[in-house]
Amino acid sequence: MFFFRKKSEIEKYKKLINSKKLPNHIAVIMDGNGRWAKKQGAGRLYGHRNGVESVRAIVEASVEIGLKYLTIYAFSTENWSRPEDEVKGLLKLILDSLVNEIDQMSKNNIVVRFIGTNKNLSPEYQEKIHRECEKSWNNTGLNFNIAMNYGGRLEILEAVKKIMPLIKSGEINEENICEKDIEQYLYTAGMPDPDLMIRTSGEMRLSNYLIWQSAYTELYFTNILWPDFKKEAFLKAIVDFQKRNRRFGGI
Ligand code: FPP
Repeated sequence: MFFFRKKSEIEKYKKLINSKKLPNHIAVIMDGNGRWAKKQGAGRLYGHRNGVESVRAIVEASVEIGLKYLTIYAFSTENWSRPEDEVKGLLKLILDSLVNEIDQMSKNNIVVRFIGTNKNLSPEYQEKIHRECEKSWNNTGLNFNIAMNYGGRLEILEAVKKIMPLIKSGEINEENICEKDIEQYLYTAGMPDPDLMIRTSGEMRLSNYLIWQSAYTELYFTNILWPDFKKEAFLKAIVDFQKRNRRFGGI
């Protein structure tokens, strides 16, 4: 359940964070579930299941501080190459988590969306996700995106494939095609680019995540393994972000 912890805790966070300099959009690469599970002498799925607790923690924190957009990397287009058991387990865990949490998230005014490609996902799976997410689409609070079956290069390729016929038909003028045209056809159309990207577990790369959108994103890496990444760690990353000087190529 996404419930709200003690008021005093929320006040403590509010003191740490400058609400006037909040990032609009935070993207998260939840890494280290496998290594965390191994340390416990358990299987990889145990790590993923515990990772859901960390998702809950950062969603709660996001609502409490008034964040507008949060995007988590739940399953990449490359993750299909993992052992079949793990893939099946992850697909089930993601869907089960959505089904279990959607009502509570909706009560907390959260809008839930899945971003990614439909390729390789069964129509039943897609339909279930759609049916659950739809329940939240009249909400106006945190936009919580779950990147599922997501790959950044494929996202750009799919955008190009949607634009090509529009160029052919003359709807988009070949000479005047601009970045905004491409952005309109990304899965994140209409959303602000991430201001901050967090990756856990000590790995320092983007792994095909939001590669178009993260051109000017501030990167934050921590050694904490995802299942250990909770509210405090999330807020610490935001406090670190707020100390940075963003120049967007200027001086
Ligand atoms: C990376 O750790 C983690 C993943 C590929 C899956 C993350 C998914 C969840 C936590 C499920 C939550 C989803 C929702 C919608 C609530 P890894 O397996 O690469 O870890 P390792 O690098 O230590 O092996």
